[in-house]
This record gives sequence, structure tokens and C-alpha cells, in this order.
Amino acid sequence: MYKIISAKFLAEDIKRFDIEAPKIAKKRLAGQFVIIRLDDYGERIPLTIADSDIEKGIITIIVQGIGKTTKQLNLLESGDSIMDVVGPLGLPSHIEKFGTTVSIGGGVGTAIAYPTAVALKEAGNHVITINGARTKDLVILEEEMKAISNESYVTTDDGSYGFHGFVTQKLQALIDEGNKIDFVLAIGPIPMMKAVAEVTRPHGIKTVVSLNPIMVDGTGMCGGCRVIVDGKSQFACVDGPEFDAHLVDFKNLTDRNKMYNDFEKNSLEKFAHKCQLDKQAERVKELS
Ligand code: NAD
Ligand code: FES
Repeated sequence: MYKIISAKFLAEDIKRFDIEAPKIAKKRLAGQFVIIRLDDYGERIPLTIADSDIEKGIITIIVQGIGKTTKQLNLLESGDSIMDVVGPLGLPSHIEKFGTTVSIGGGVGTAIAYPTAVALKEAGNHVITINGARTKDLVILEEEMKAISNESYVTTDDGSYGFHGFVTQKLQALIDEGNKIDFVLAIGPIPMMKAVAEVTRPHGIKTVVSLNPIMVDGTGMCGGCRVIVDGKSQFACVDGPEFDAHLVDFKNLTDRNKMYNDFEKNSLEKFAHKCQLDKQAERVKELS
């Protein structure tokens, strides 16, 4: 069992967990992930390690409650435990001194862009960060990103905070202003990563994205996380999760991620129903 040392909402449905996992904390590098399973019957889900503290023996994950398992996870609090935390998995981010780098986080993708931005800064790059969200209340890790950036920008789709527009519009503006950009890392929803690839492609800027296909074993055995890169099959769990954005088949990734939508919907409905029953049972207990 892996104990949750602290659990805190950063925004609606987005929760940060510090988990006791000393061996993983010691070994993990930027870009790597863990696969967690909440209980004997739980599905296995991959979550990127946002941060770690070797001395305290903890890893940090940031979770957006979208499906059944992430919503169930986000109900856990400090002192609770997670049954399995396996990792670190995946290849670490390729870090070198590129020159000027732009790390782009879209929504909860910011939690994944952050550790790589830290590593790029430590490698001596001029680090620009763009942190995008639909609206002000959904912006996460603003202070953390700012602390490790030479230049940091927040964007909101509705203009409620920072630059008004998508992260891609801010990136385009930086390019149009004549900034020489050597490397871009973009992590977030698939349409965002695809759009970033199209902004940088005409300028020949090396661009990397972190892919989030469905994963099962996380060790290259099941084939669940197959993605097409440069026309070839790759397994995101062992060959990635980071790939050259200009070579990724985003349509294939989108289609594959939709394959289990009906199962996910069903499972979420059953979970919501069970939560309702549990609440009613609690209420009956209180009244009796
Ligand atoms: P969101 O939909 O709120 O988008 C976040 C930001 O991305 C927006 O503010 C905007 O700036 C940009 N964006 C979105 N669509 C765009 C487009 N078409 N063109 C240009 N920019 C665009 O994000 P969210 O709700 O926080 O994200 C949830 C999604 O991110 C989920 O689908 C989840 O699966 C995915 N995700 C991906 C990874 C990964 O490893 N790639 C990790 C975590 C989550
Ligand atoms: Fe099974 Fe990658 S998750 S091969």
C-alpha cells in the first residue's frame, strides 16, 4: 500500500497528491510516469510524475477527475492509501542545452510539462513557459512555472486572466515577434498538441509531445498503448511517452482513445449511482 501524505484540490476536479513511494522518488526522471491501481478490482491508469522529493520519499501526481477511476481517486484524502503504484515507467524526457525552449502546458497537461521545464532550466536553457486554461479558475501551477522560467505566460480561452486566446496563439505571437525558438514541448489535449505541431512545422522548430493513449501493463507487453509515429507502430509506454510532434498520427491516437468510450461511460454511471446509494445509506445511519 502507498500512503497519501497530502491531497489538495488545485482547481475544480484537479487534485494534487503527495504519495509515499521512496524508491520511485529516488529513481524517477522528468517525463516518466507511474501506473496506479486503487484496489483489487481497479483499472490500471498511467499518471505522469509531476515532482518528487527524495529526502521525504514522496512523489507528486496531479489528477483530473474525468473517468471513473480518476474521479474515485480524487475522493481520497491524506492518510488514505493506494494499493499499487508501479514505476517509474517510460523513457525520461530527452534533455540537452537546446538554447531557447518553450514548454507548453494545456490544462492539466501543465502538470506534465512542469518537470521537463525544470530539467530544461537545469540544463542551462532559456526557458519560456506557456500555461493555458479555459478560464482563470482552471489555471494550475502558475507560481511553480514562473519560478523556473526566464519568461512565463498564462493564457485563458475566455480572456479572464493573462493572454486572451489559446496557447498556440501565444506561441505564434512569440514566433512573429522574432524570438528564435530552438525547442518546443507541448502537453495537453490532443487537438492542442496537434495545433502546436502545425504552428512550429513551417519554422522547422523541433517539437515534442507527450502522448496519453490507453495503457494496461505499461511494460510493452499488451499493445494497448500503440501509437503511429512516422508511419510505424510504437508503444507509448516503452518507446515514449514523448515523440516528435511532426511525425505523430494524431487521428489514429484520437480514434484509439475513443474505442472504450461506451465502457467508460457505463462504468462512470455505475460509480455515480453507487456514490448516491452510499450517500443515502450514510444519511439513513445519521437519522437512525
Ligand atoms: P482544455 O480542453 O481545457 O484545454 C487546455 C488548453 O489547451 C486550452 O486552454 C487551450 O489553450 C489549449 N487548446 C485546447 N484545444 C486547443 C486547440 N484545438 N487548439 C489550440 N489550443 C488548444 O484542457 P483540459 O480539459 O485540462 O485537458 C484535458 C485533456 O488533456 C484530456 O483530454 C486529457 O486526456 C488530456 N491530457 C493529456 C495529457 C498528455 O499526456 N498529453 C496529460 C493529461 C491530460
Ligand atoms: Fe501495454 Fe504499453 S501499456 S504495451
